[in-house]
Amino acid sequence: MQKRRAIITAVGHYVPDKILSNFDLEKMVDTTDEWIRTRTGIRERHILENGATSDMAVEAAKNALKNRGIRPDEVDLIVMATITPDMFFPSTACLVQDKLGAKNAWGFDVSAACSGFLFALMTGAQFVETGAYKKVLVIGADKMSVITDYSDRNNCILFGDGAGAVLLEPTDDMSVGILDSILRCDGSGGGALHMKGGGSLNPPSHETVDKRWHYLYQDGKSVFKVAVMGMADVSVEILKRNNLTGADVDWLVPHQANLRIIDATAERMELDKSKVMINIDKYGNTTAATVPLCLSEWWQAGKLKKDQILVIATFGAGYTWGSALIKWSAEDAKG
Ligand code: COA
Repeated sequence: MQKRRAIITAVGHYVPDKILSNFDLEKMVDTTDEWIRTRTGIRERHILENGATSDMAVEAAKNALKNRGIRPDEVDLIVMATITPDMFFPSTACLVQDKLGAKNAWGFDVSAACSGFLFALMTGAQFVETGAYKKVLVIGADKMSVITDYSDRNNCILFGDGAGAVLLEPTDDMSVGILDSILRCDGSGGGALHMKGGGSLNPPSHETVDKRWHYLYQDGKSVFKVAVMGMADVSVEILKRNNLTGADVDWLVPHQANLRIIDATAERMELDKSKVMINIDKYGNTTAATVPLCLSEWWQAGKLKKDQILVIATFGAGYTWGSALIKWSAEDAKG
C-alpha cells in the first residue's frame, strides 16, 4: 500500500538569450515565416551559443531551489532527462551535481527524447513514494541546436534550446501530487526519428560525418500521425480511468512539438483552448525541456495555482509517450 505521494514543490527554468526567428531561418534555408507559423505554430526559438546542456540544466535547477528556499546540498537525487548530454559519459546528472554544488546528491540520466521529462518525473517520484529520498530534482534540458542540421528545412525550423526543473518532495496527503500516469514505448518507431551516428552501431567516422548521421533525422509526416494519436489516446485514457472529463482539468501541459498536435489532443479531451499551456511560439521544440518550461512559466505568471488539476502529455522518439495526472501542490508564486 502506497503511503506517500510525490508532490512538486518548486519549478524553475532557463532559456538562453539568443533568438533564432523564422525570419532568420528564411535566410538560411528555403522556407518562410508564414509556412513555419501555419504548419507548426513556431515563431522563434532560443539558441545556446556558449556552453552545454548541463549549463542550462544548472540554471534551471538553481531557479527551482531558490523558489523553494533550499540549498543545493539538501538535494538527495538528480534525475536528468536529455538526449543531448554534454558527452556520452560521465552522465549529465553528474556534471550538474558538481556544478550545482549538490554534494550530497547522486544522480543519473534518463533517455526518452521528448518524453524524457515525464519518464524522469515518474522515476524520481518512485524514490520519493518509497520513502527512500525526500528531495529529488528532476531536470529536462536539451541543446537541440547541436544535433540540428541547419541545411535541412524539414527539421531545422522545429527545434530550440532550453531547460526546466522541478523539485519532488513527499507528503502523506494522498489526495495531491502525482496521482496517476500512463507510460508507453514502441521501439518499432525508431526508424522514423533518430540520430544514427556516434553510438556503438555507427561509431564516428568520416563516413558518418559525410552522411550527416550526427544530426537528428525525422520523417515528420509519419511521426506526426502517430504523435497525434498517441498523445491524445493516453490523455483521454488517464481521464477516463480516473472518472474525470475535460471539464475537471485546469491545465493540459502538452509536449510542444507542433501546435496542430497540441490542438488535436485538446480537442479529443474536449478541453477549451484557454486551458492548454502553449509556448511553442517562443521556444519551438526543446525536447525534454518543453513540459517543465511550461510549468515554470505558468507558475511564475501566477496562472498555475495550488490544487489545480493538470494532465501532462508527451510524445517523442522511441517512440515514447505518456500522460500524468497531477494535483498541483507548489505554493503559489508571490505576486
Ligand atoms: N518550409 C517550406 N516548406 C517546407 C518546409 C519548410 N521549412 N519543410 C517542408 N516543406 C515542404 C515539404 O517539402 C512538402 O513539399 P512537397 O509537398 O512539395 O513535398 C510540404 O512542405 C509539405 O510537407 P509535409 O511534410 O507534408 O508538411 P507537414 O504538414 O507534415 O509538416 C512537420 C511538417 C515536420 C512540421 C510535421 O510533419 C510535424 O510536426 N511532424 C511531427 C513532429 C513531431 O511531432 N515530433 C514529435 C517528437 S519530437
